Amino acid sequence: MSSPVAAARTAPAAVSNGPRLTPLACRLCGAPHAPAPLATCPECLGPLEPAYDAARRLPTRAEIEARPRSIWRYREWLPILDAPVVSTDTGFTPLLEAPALARALGVRRALVKNDAVCHPTLSFKDRVVAVALNAAAGLGLETVGCASTGNLANSVAAQAARAGLPAWIFVPEDLEIGKIVGTAVYGPRLVRVRGNYDDVNRLCAQVADRFGWGLVNLNLRGYYGEGSKTVAFEIVEQLGWRLPQAVVAPMAGGSLLTKIDKGFAELAKAGLADGPRPRVYGAQAEGCAPIVNLVHRGGDRIEPVVPRTIARSIAIGNPADGRFAAEAIRSSGGAAAAVSDAELVEGITLLAATTGVFTETAGGVTVAAARKLVREGQLGPDDEVVLCITGNGLKTIEAVQPALAPAPIIDPKLREVAALAQAVH
Ligand SMILES: Cc1ncc(COP(=O)(O)O)c(C=O)c1O
Ligand SMILES: [Zn+2]
Repeated sequence: MSSPVAAARTAPAAVSNGPRLTPLACRLCGAPHAPAPLATCPECLGPLEPAYDAARRLPTRAEIEARPRSIWRYREWLPILDAPVVSTDTGFTPLLEAPALARALGVRRALVKNDAVCHPTLSFKDRVVAVALNAAAGLGLETVGCASTGNLANSVAAQAARAGLPAWIFVPEDLEIGKIVGTAVYGPRLVRVRGNYDDVNRLCAQVADRFGWGLVNLNLRGYYGEGSKTVAFEIVEQLGWRLPQAVVAPMAGGSLLTKIDKGFAELAKAGLADGPRPRVYGAQAEGCAPIVNLVHRGGDRIEPVVPRTIARSIAIGNPADGRFAAEAIRSSGGAAAAVSDAELVEGITLLAATTGVFTETAGGVTVAAARKLVREGQLGPDDEVVLCITGNGLKTIEAVQPALAPAPIIDPKLREVAALAQAVH
């Protein structure tokens, strides 16, 4: 491994025998750019995104169905042009029918997209990291990293370890213990920064420039974000190649929701998804709701906030893709809702009790927001709603533990069980 200073001096991405990548183009002004570890347009500072060859051959439904069950079965809509070299088995999580949850929410049908069991680190971030690490390989970047609220840290650490890459991972100092241990165990350079995620992100933007590393959600962000489209692709395929009516997703930087909307549009355009455009609904915690505020207020400028919520994984006060998420919500006919910390904890226990899925705080926000959207009349009794459960509850047990009744402790005596059983009846 070259020293950081040497890496800073050499132009990144000089040599690579990794996969070829799509070129990039500016989302705002359209300016093209060769594949590079670069997130913003040199012309206008808009975000760079992969530019796909409109004439490329697209697969049929049957061809996709015959491929291995991972995000790569949709490879024509991902920015890695050759076979992926790392993280080849991420994705294709279950879409669960949730009738008891539908009844509790008051909607016709509820489905849970269960990324609490995504591989390898139990959150949807495994999808974006799988794409980003293949982009890093294609660009010849030998060190990777990220700025993270926790799940991304877990995922970069695990997937870099598996790929044999050194990883530098930056997180807010006071993250949940499950997120810290679930990163450190893979042996990355884990750095805890005094400050909130937005401070970490600012620092990492400078780090990316200085050291020439591939920071997956900074200078590789254009490639990284595309991985989230696979949530939409899978939902459509799992519904028998039909678009859902409504989808509720949690928002932090706003990338996931924006890319779910984009994924639906791309499959529809390819003639592979039937039905009208799905309404997308965004969920945040009240203590950090800059995107929900923008949807409610109108306009296209995020007003940053200082996060104050137990939903640490989605506590981003200045979301990079906030305006795009707000635009996707509005133009699809969806809505946005913010919920309190108490409501999100109820969301976690409601989901667990009705579906057997234990989600982390972000999933609790999704469930609680869906409930609120029904109460507000934004979602109705005729709706089919897909809830994006994006992370695993075992990572944030401290959030829900205080809300659970303590289990009785007994001697190993039958009469003690009998007394408990009697008390229940
Ligand atoms: C569990 C979970 N859900 C949702 C999100 C939101 O993702 P995005 O930043 O793309 O909006 C995150 C982001 O960290 C997350 O960790
Ligand atoms: Zn531009």
